Amino acid sequence: MKKFLNLKKNIFIFSSLLVLLFFLSIWLWHQFQKEERLYFCDDKTIICDLSEAPYHDPSLPVEERVEDLLSHMTLDEKIGQLALVERSEIKDKNDIATYGLGGLLSGAGSHPENNTALGWQEMTADYQTYTKKTRLQIPLLYGADAIHGNSNVPGATVFPHQIGLGAANDPDLVRRINEATAKELAATGIYWNYAPSLDVAKDLRWGRTYETFSSESDRVENLAAAAIIGLQGENSATPFVIATAKHYIGSGAMIWGTAVNEDYKIDQGEVRLTEEELRAEHLPPFKKAVEAGVWSVMAGLNNWQGLKLSANKYLLTDVLKEELGFQGFVVSDWYGVYEIPGNNYQNTITAINAGVDMVMLPFDYKKFIADLQQSTSNGRVPASRLDDAVRRILRAKFSLGLFDRPAPTANDLAIIGSEEHRALAREAVRKSLVLLKDRRQTLPLDKNLDTIIVAGSAADNSGRQCGGWTVEWQGIDGNWLPGASSILKGIKEAVSSETKVIFEETGNFDLDVKADVGIVIVGEKSYAEGVGDEAEPQLSPEDLATIEKVRKASNKLIVIIVSGRPLNIKLPARNWDTIIAAWLPGSEGQGVADVLFGGYPFVGTLPIEWEL
Ligand code: GLC
Repeated sequence: MKKFLNLKKNIFIFSSLLVLLFFLSIWLWHQFQKEERLYFCDDKTIICDLSEAPYHDPSLPVEERVEDLLSHMTLDEKIGQLALVERSEIKDKNDIATYGLGGLLSGAGSHPENNTALGWQEMTADYQTYTKKTRLQIPLLYGADAIHGNSNVPGATVFPHQIGLGAANDPDLVRRINEATAKELAATGIYWNYAPSLDVAKDLRWGRTYETFSSESDRVENLAAAAIIGLQGENSATPFVIATAKHYIGSGAMIWGTAVNEDYKIDQGEVRLTEEELRAEHLPPFKKAVEAGVWSVMAGLNNWQGLKLSANKYLLTDVLKEELGFQGFVVSDWYGVYEIPGNNYQNTITAINAGVDMVMLPFDYKKFIADLQQSTSNGRVPASRLDDAVRRILRAKFSLGLFDRPAPTANDLAIIGSEEHRALAREAVRKSLVLLKDRRQTLPLDKNLDTIIVAGSAADNSGRQCGGWTVEWQGIDGNWLPGASSILKGIKEAVSSETKVIFEETGNFDLDVKADVGIVIVGEKSYAEGVGDEAEPQLSPEDLATIEKVRKASNKLIVIIVSGRPLNIKLPARNWDTIIAAWLPGSEGQGVADVLFGGYPFVGTLPIEWEL
C-alpha cells in the first residue's frame, strides 16, 4: 500500500511540474511574441545579445528608451557614462570600450594630427567605432568649444566673439549665427557645443570678457535664448546640437587678485556676492537658458562664498534643477572637481552628490572611475543619484539622435566656411561696430578719395581679428586664417580704382603731401582665459607711436580698435578724430569697410562701459 501511495504522490508531483512547465513555456513564448525579449545577463556574465533591445528602437519615446537601456546597465556601465575625457588623455582608444566612457572632448587646441575639417570628421568617427565594441553600444557625446563658429577648424567661418554680438544686441542675428555654427560643428561629427557663455562680465580686466555678451545682465538675458535655440533648434526635444549654458554661476563677478591659478589674476577666482546680488544679476540669463530648453549647464571654475561651484549642492541641485526645473545635465568644467579642497576620492563624491552629472576629466579618468566604483559600492554616492545622472545623460543622447543619426560624410563638409556663412559673419561684423567718436564728421568715407594711408598691428592680421579660441587656445597671430579677409583687404576692395591705398604697418609713410585720411587698426594681441587677465588693458606703446605717425601724415585720422574689451585710451584719444570699436570681428574683416564707406550705418552700442 505504502509503495502505491508513494507512486501516486510522485505521479502527481511530476504531472504538476509538467503543467507548470507548459504554462511557463506559454508565458515565455508570449513574452517573445510581445517582442519584449528577456536578456539573461548580469554583472558577471555579460554574454547576452542586446542588439534587438527596445532602446535601439527610434520609434519608441525617449523616456522608454532611457528606462530600457538603464535596466540593462551594470554598475560599471553606468559609471562610465559620467566620464567626459579630454581626447589627448586617451593613450589607448580601447579604453573607450573598456571603461564605457560617456563622452570625449577637444579642449581648446586639442585637434587631430590632420587639422582639417576632414581630419576632425575622421577623428570623431574613429572614436565612435570603439563604442561599437561594447555590449550596449552607447555612442559618445563629443564636445568642443565652438564659441565663435567652429573656430577650432582652420577654414571654418569665424564669427565675431560674443562681446561684438553683445554690441549688435540682435537676438535674430545671434540665433542665425548659432544655427550656422551648429551646422559647421555637426559636419565634423560634434554635436555638443560648450557655448554660449552667459557670464555677466563685471570686471573688464578679466581675460574672458570677450567671451561674454555684456556686463549688463538684461543684455545677456536678451541674447541667451537666441544662442541656445540657434544651436539646438526651435524644438529642444530634438536638439540638432546640444548647447551649454556656462559658466554657472557668477564667473563674471570674480574679484581681482583671487585667482587660484598662480598665473592668473582673476580667472577661476572668488565671487563674494550675496545670494540676493547673485540672483539679481547672474541668474536671469541661466533662467532664460533653462526656459529655452538648454540641454547642458557647465559648472564654473569660480567659487561662491568660498565654495567651488562643482561642490555647491544648493546652486546646482536646489536652485538649478529644482527651482528652475533644469532637466538636462550638469557638466563640470575642466579640472574643477579636483580643485575642490580635499582628496580626489572625496571630491568625486562631493561633486556628484552636489548635482554634477558628467565630470570633465582633462586627466586621471581611470582614478575617477575607480573612485566612483568605490563610492557607489559603499553608498557614499547613492544609487539613486547615479541613476539620475545617467538618466539625464542618456536622455540627452537619445534626444540628440546619437543612437540613430547617420555620421556626417565628406560631402557634408562643404558647409564649413561656406559663402553663405561668411556673408552672415560679415553682417555680424557690420552690426557689432560701435562708433565711439567722430568729432569732424569724417564718416562715411568717400570711395573716391585720392589717398588713404593704412597702418597698425591689426590691419592685415586675421589672427588678431579672431582672438583666442581660434584653432589654438590662445589664437595665432598673423594673417594666416584660411578663407579669412583682413580689415585692410576690405578697405582696398571698397575704394574706387582711382584711390591709392598705401599700407605700412608701423606708420612710416614718406609722402609729399598729407593723405586725405589715415586709418590705423590696432588693439590687443590674442589671448584666452586667465592669460588675458590684465590690470590695465591699453594699447601698446608701439601702437600708440604708429597712431601718432599717421596722425601727422594725414588730414583726418581714424583709429579702429580690435580688442576683446574696452581699452584705456583716454589721454591719447583726445587727438584722434574718429574712433571705432571693432571688438574681435573674426574672419570677415571686410565688414568694417562696409560701414566705413557708408554701405551700412553704425548700429552697435556699447555692451560694456568704455570711458573716453
Ligand atoms: C575651459 C573653459 C570652458 C571650456 C572648457 C573646455 O577651461 O573654462 O569654458 O568649455 O575648458 O574646453
